Amino acid sequence: MVSYKDLGLVNSRELFKKAINGGYAIPAFNFNNMEQMQAIIQACVETKSPVILQVSSGARKYANQTILRYMAQGGVEYAKELGCNIPIVLHLDHGDSFELCKSCIEYGFSSVMIDGSSKPYDENVELTRKVVEYAHKYDVTVEGELGVLAGVEDDVKAESHTYTRPEEVEDFVKKTGVDSLAISIGTSHGAYKFKPGQKPEIRLDILHEIEQRIPGFPIVLHGSSSVPQDIVAEINHYGGHLKDSIGIPEDQLREAAKSAVCKINIDSDGRLAMTAAIRKVFVEHPEEFDPRKYLGPAREKLKELYIHKINNVLGSNDKM
Ligand code: G3H
Ligand code: 13P
Ligand code: ZN
Repeated sequence: MVSYKDLGLVNSRELFKKAINGGYAIPAFNFNNMEQMQAIIQACVETKSPVILQVSSGARKYANQTILRYMAQGGVEYAKELGCNIPIVLHLDHGDSFELCKSCIEYGFSSVMIDGSSKPYDENVELTRKVVEYAHKYDVTVEGELGVLAGVEDDVKAESHTYTRPEEVEDFVKKTGVDSLAISIGTSHGAYKFKPGQKPEIRLDILHEIEQRIPGFPIVLHGSSSVPQDIVAEINHYGGHLKDSIGIPEDQLREAAKSAVCKINIDSDGRLAMTAAIRKVFVEHPEEFDPRKYLGPAREKLKELYIHKINNVLGSNDKM
């Protein structure tokens, strides 16, 4: 058993409290390789932002759990070396079983998500409660989810949204003891969140109703990439083929971040940024074959994207 405290990580409790009171959200950026981790730390140190390093079960399989633990610890030490001891959370994204959550806690995660959102309500309550009971013994914080996002999450695929029902949230939070709650208000995973012709809009009215039912309780938004059209155009210009990819408008996320939304998940935008940079090098310099020559620019573009998100969307700059 490795305690996250020995790795220099923190859980999300204090960060969320401050974020709600301060009207901003903590960035939760997914990572599974070194360049992504470096870009996240560099961007957060430069902006003095706390951060949640987020690992999906697919990422854990890809990168290996032991390597990820040392990478997160490396992130903590790297931030110090860059001159700023920012608070860093290591979080399991979309945990789908008690066993996976338990294993992550044993490997040094400071926060886990148990995603029972596709299960019937009572099963979701029971599973989430069991994870909370175990996690809290080790002072690890837990995120639960109510409502189903459209799109694909690892192996779970939903055709359409099932919005979170505000009348369930109070009961869910009370029965499970979760520390934060992910809700479904029209965001979704991936780069195709709306169909052409559809108005890209999230249901801030549902968010506000939820806030009234559980005042001051930390809310999480998944599927919050904005799919920047300049980056999509760059990918397509350099030989990519992304058609009709549409994300969540950044001003709506900014609005949400001012409320009880205190964690915003962004993965796809980072994938797009890396892809654009790598494609550009491949097209402009076909003679290159040193991975540093394309992963380096990808890391730079990622860092730029994260800084933009922190300063202009989440508002978590200077909040460490
Ligand atoms: O929720 C989904 C995240 O973007 C992680 O995606 O399961 O492909 O690693 P992944
Ligand atoms: P995006 O696909 O919109 O980046 O969402 C990521 C996410 O919710 C990770 O849990
Ligand atoms: Zn998600």
